[in-house]
Amino acid sequence: MTEIRMKVNGSVESLDVEPWVSLLDALRERLGLTGPKKGCDQGACGACTVLADGMRINACLALAVQYDGREITTIEGVAHPLQEAFVRHDGFQCGYCTPGQICSAIGMLAEYEAGMPSAVTKARGLSDAEIRERMSGNLCRCGAYNGIVDAILDVAGKDA
Ligand code: FES
Ligand code: FES
Repeated sequence: MTEIRMKVNGSVESLDVEPWVSLLDALRERLGLTGPKKGCDQGACGACTVLADGMRINACLALAVQYDGREITTIEGVAHPLQEAFVRHDGFQCGYCTPGQICSAIGMLAEYEAGMPSAVTKARGLSDAEIRERMSGNLCRCGAYNGIVDAILDVAGKDA
């Protein structure tokens, strides 16, 4: 067991974890934060996305011990205009992917503002295609992609 301390949603938490415990399992099973979902547990769906010091990560691919001393934000700790925008634009149906979508979108907008290029698109400006590329790590089995893009464009101050 290794003792780690993380600031999670504003509260300092001390945990004893085995070195193989994922950050996702630590959040869900040790701290009771079930907003981040275990969709695939292998980095393919994005349902487990949380923010680590403001950067989006797949919590299922992260070991909890790697995040000793870091600041983690899950959907439970988020208060962002994107949440209201997802409701307004029908950016979800069952809601399973939504915590990860919103955490990812917050991180994505910060990356965009910081001038980080996307992997494929070259266009300047936060277009529909640019958002779809930058959010391509977050799958939605309900197919609510149009509403998700519209919500992000709305919050980013662009025309949906
Ligand atoms: S549960 Fe982490 S990417 Fe699917
Ligand atoms: S809203 Fe159901 S998986 Fe996205």
